[in-house]
Amino acid sequence: MRVHGSLRVPGDKSISHRSLILSAIANGQSRIRGILLSADVHSTAGVLRALGAQIPELGPEMAVHGVGLQGLSQPAAALDCGNSGTTTRLMAGVVAARPVHATFIGDASLSRRPMRRVARPLEAMGATVELPEHGGLPMTIHGGQLHDLSWASETASAQVKSAILLAALVAGVHAEVAEPVMTRDHTERMLAARGIRLSIDGQRIVIDPSEQVEATDVVVPGDPSSAAFFAGLAAIADAGSIRLENVCVNETRRGFFYQLRLAGADVREENRRIEGGEPVADLIVSPVALHGSVVEAARVPSMVDELPLLACIATRADGETLITGAGELRVKESDRITAVVDNLLAIGADAEELPDGMRIRGSDRPLEGRVETHGDHRLAMAFGVLAAARGNSIAIDDRDCVAVSYPDFWADLERVVA
Ligand code: S3P
Repeated sequence: MRVHGSLRVPGDKSISHRSLILSAIANGQSRIRGILLSADVHSTAGVLRALGAQIPELGPEMAVHGVGLQGLSQPAAALDCGNSGTTTRLMAGVVAARPVHATFIGDASLSRRPMRRVARPLEAMGATVELPEHGGLPMTIHGGQLHDLSWASETASAQVKSAILLAALVAGVHAEVAEPVMTRDHTERMLAARGIRLSIDGQRIVIDPSEQVEATDVVVPGDPSSAAFFAGLAAIADAGSIRLENVCVNETRRGFFYQLRLAGADVREENRRIEGGEPVADLIVSPVALHGSVVEAARVPSMVDELPLLACIATRADGETLITGAGELRVKESDRITAVVDNLLAIGADAEELPDGMRIRGSDRPLEGRVETHGDHRLAMAFGVLAAARGNSIAIDDRDCVAVSYPDFWADLERVVA
């Protein structure tokens, strides 16, 4: 398989969610350019509208008139978050700080995902949160005046950190969050860009009360988690190269590219610049013979969504790839440890499940069989990359689930594979 051409992947999903939320509660008009037009981001827009925010139809260039920190009101119906964990957890923080009660619902996958991790700090701030026995959805939050919080998060989760920061912001209180390993810092960057006072000391973030959130223009850079699929594809191709333009290369997000290089890949960075408060670059990836590598636990958060892809790429490397310290993968859109390993075994790869990760031994045998995505977009795309490699014959049960984060994925894949 030969790869060619250049690609501008869609806007970053994490930044897109945050751009809508912060614009919705700002004072005045914010313009957003390059927002990701995918199902998850539509979920955030829908939830904000249900709370009375003025969110127009999403588009490549859009303006949002903020309703202010006190502007969100009682929703008339349950808040449907679809498949989106980010929508649920970030908006849980916002809702907890408003004098409203709201029930968060979602699809079967989201309803199974753990919500106690956000419920506990929000309760410690003074909100009341009702959860079913299994700790997932539906989750009902009775919000109101919150108080200061100092919270040491047990899980390295940007969603939990962001829920606390957003709750403190809307409530006008102080909060301090300490995380075990630094996670993506888009919320912090975007709050600072809107005049919010934060102090960041390693993995400890303190937010001070603010009267208002300033309106500002947001430029959404390309999503490194989407670019990763094409970097992985180029790394296992037989010839050619791919140029990925305008990719966010924030330190807390670039772990997959680091790991690819560690496995011997040729990943070059050009045209590095700062855009919209984020480091952005063009990445050029060409095929090389890959070897096995070990993922350090401390780097897991910087590539957490890319680990299914890394496992797929590892089947084409010489030697063993070891991923540990990644227990969080079990509570993503699917149990991404069991699902990835079962699928790798089903197509004839050599893989082994570990309690908090997996071990993959590469070979050059053709891989053949049918993959079950469990409706998980990242599994569909990771195995889609592997299916494109020479000699493989892999069918994917649900290709449409890519709509969650990358609706045009299959078309883009076809465009770069010769
Ligand atoms: C996200 C944080 C991560 C990531 C998710 C998006 C965010 O989740 O997996 O896709 O936008 O904050 P966790 O906070 O659960 O690690």
